[in-house]
Amino acid sequence: MTDLIPELRTPVAPEGTGRVHSGMAVSRVDGRAKVTGAAKYAAEESAPNLVYGVVVSGTIAKGRITGIETVDALTAHGVVAVITHLNRPKIRAYDIAFKDMTAPGGSPFRPLASDKIFYSGQPVALVVASSFEAARHAAQLVKVSYEEDKHETDLLATLDQAYEPRPMKAGFTPPSSTGDADKAFEAAPVKVESQFYHGVEHHNPMEMFATTVIRADDGHMTIYDKTQSSQNNRWYVSRAFGLSKNKVTVRNPYVGGAFGSGLRPQYQLTLAVMAALQLKCSVRVVLTRQQMFSFGHRPETWQKVRLAANPDGKLQAITHDAIHETSRLEDYVEVVVNWSGQLYACDNIKLGYKVVAHDRHSPIDMRAPGAAHGVHALEVAMDELAYKLKIDPLELRRINYAERNPLDDKPYSTKELSQCYDKGAQRFGWADRPIEPRSMRDGDELVGWGMATGIWDSLVMVARVSAVLHADGRLVVSSAATDIGTGTYTVMAMIAAEAMGMPLEQVTFQLGDSTLPMAPIEGGSSHVTTVGGGVHGACEKLQKRLFKLAQDMPDSRMKGVRQKDVVFQDGTMMLRNRPETALRLGEVLASSGIDRVEEKYLMTPQMLKQRKFTRAVHSAVFCEVRVNEKLGMVRVTRVVSAVAAGRIINAKTAASQVSGAVVWGISQALHEESFTDHRFGRFMNHNFAEYHVATNADIHDIEVIFAEEDDRIVSKQLGAKGVGEIGIVGVSAAISNAIFHATGKRLRSTPITPDKIL
Ligand code: MOS
Repeated sequence: MTDLIPELRTPVAPEGTGRVHSGMAVSRVDGRAKVTGAAKYAAEESAPNLVYGVVVSGTIAKGRITGIETVDALTAHGVVAVITHLNRPKIRAYDIAFKDMTAPGGSPFRPLASDKIFYSGQPVALVVASSFEAARHAAQLVKVSYEEDKHETDLLATLDQAYEPRPMKAGFTPPSSTGDADKAFEAAPVKVESQFYHGVEHHNPMEMFATTVIRADDGHMTIYDKTQSSQNNRWYVSRAFGLSKNKVTVRNPYVGGAFGSGLRPQYQLTLAVMAALQLKCSVRVVLTRQQMFSFGHRPETWQKVRLAANPDGKLQAITHDAIHETSRLEDYVEVVVNWSGQLYACDNIKLGYKVVAHDRHSPIDMRAPGAAHGVHALEVAMDELAYKLKIDPLELRRINYAERNPLDDKPYSTKELSQCYDKGAQRFGWADRPIEPRSMRDGDELVGWGMATGIWDSLVMVARVSAVLHADGRLVVSSAATDIGTGTYTVMAMIAAEAMGMPLEQVTFQLGDSTLPMAPIEGGSSHVTTVGGGVHGACEKLQKRLFKLAQDMPDSRMKGVRQKDVVFQDGTMMLRNRPETALRLGEVLASSGIDRVEEKYLMTPQMLKQRKFTRAVHSAVFCEVRVNEKLGMVRVTRVVSAVAAGRIINAKTAASQVSGAVVWGISQALHEESFTDHRFGRFMNHNFAEYHVATNADIHDIEVIFAEEDDRIVSKQLGAKGVGEIGIVGVSAAISNAIFHATGKRLRSTPITPDKIL
């Protein structure tokens, strides 16, 4: 039985919203709660006698802890405990290597497991006090001494140590090849060979990573955590601490951004649970902005792309190699190069992918992991090739348009990329573009237009969804899904409301609790296809059930009727075009003497069908830059992003996702990089003063267009494909290419800061 969990305060659409259908622009149902502060985040939940933990961060990159002086901290006002590897609770499970569901190959970092230091910024102690301020003060009084070992954090100095990651994380395909790319490259008349470099980038969601553990007298823990999956973290806590499932509930009803950083449990969760177990009380641990630079990141990446073509523009060879860093503990995998074998028709393709182990925390997925950098390299190289061939960059992409996947010859489930090219180019005015660089100027600024293609996977996972209709006419649909700001609450409620023919405000979609029916992590742009498909499935089952109940009613108008002649509309079921036969859904229940009916649906991908197709979302990104050559400053004044991502459920939240991702793409292209001082193996600019992200002043016109697409291979129920990541892919390449068009300067590393322009 799945019922409403009052503590989740699940948002519902305002009265009067009424009928909705897919494709409509619907404001988010959680919007009001978020902007009024009614939505509570992990660090805002409270409990009687709550204590506060502050993390002490290590200062060396590699070695071991030789001593921790805690006397000053322990005697400071309000301090309850200082937990270190020496006095942490001894739990058998914790001392055996354990993994989270989303861990790559290897053995995950375990906070306070031992005296060993694996990376700079590693948590070495948790100071717990009766107030946050007392804990923060005492944390400064903890003195840690170390024995240092020689560390390595420099990617470009260690490329020769790269190896193929083993084993590949589930769901990742190792890069493959076709034809003889080396030979074809040598033989071809026109070629390009380029190397690319991308520095480390850190996720900087608005909400800090935080955990509040609320401990009941019987020891049960309700854990409010910033995560992209309550169930992953519930499972992790159980595994790490040897606690049975019914001892731990994890909740994440509101998440203030994460995009990848919340795919795995972060160390404040582990430490908060450790403290709650040791001290037998409720605990909150919030990381600082600086500490949010001390777990996963988008890895530093080196790439080499070679393209060869005939004078008519037809590609003869593509080779793409990538090497990025990982940690000593795990082989983090994001297969940077795979999309280069999927996008353009070519008989000779060779892809290579390796990692180098460094003394860092493992990288973690960040929006469009792998593609964000990989497609940047491919698409800048395509632009270079276009200039060599003297062919318009868009035309070159059209010449090499792949109708089937060049690597395995499978057809695409749907691929309306050509529509993206057409609609995007038209909207942008691409046809007016002079081909020569440095041919547009406006005052002090050189103007350039660039474009790139984007591609990302279309994933479907497994989920369970429950749909409960109550006699008062309210529908409650539940799954342990997540809304990291993407619009899950809204879109799922829309899918249910449309399927059941109910006004949106009568539908509650409940998520964010590990006890709800199983849902996957909110990642890989898969929530709509997976959870949304499940919502649709559960509602269809519910309709069948309601129809049967209606047929059994005394003097039923539905007797002898077939369900296909019945429609669900405005909270009723009725014979098609016979409004006088309308029966309120609540009435059906009431007259059957029951107060609720529940149906559950198990959503699984149509594996057999899917296997015959290549499944991807596509985009075409066009942009205008203005470059001040004297100051080296770049402004991205116009972006048109045309996306083909299956059927769009909510035009507003989908467009917001894409334009948000374009903002991030601009940020990535021009601003974001975490710099390491290799003498210390430490990220130096770990704050918003020095790690720059795009702000309002950096963002100008962004226009999002969706191509018409309906993909029943990826999503039988909805025809959707997912829009979460595609919006960022290709943006930085389009900007690089526009800067070349403006200035004649080819830049192959991001961020493109003024020093590189000058
Ligand atoms: Mo995403 S990087 O799959 O949250």
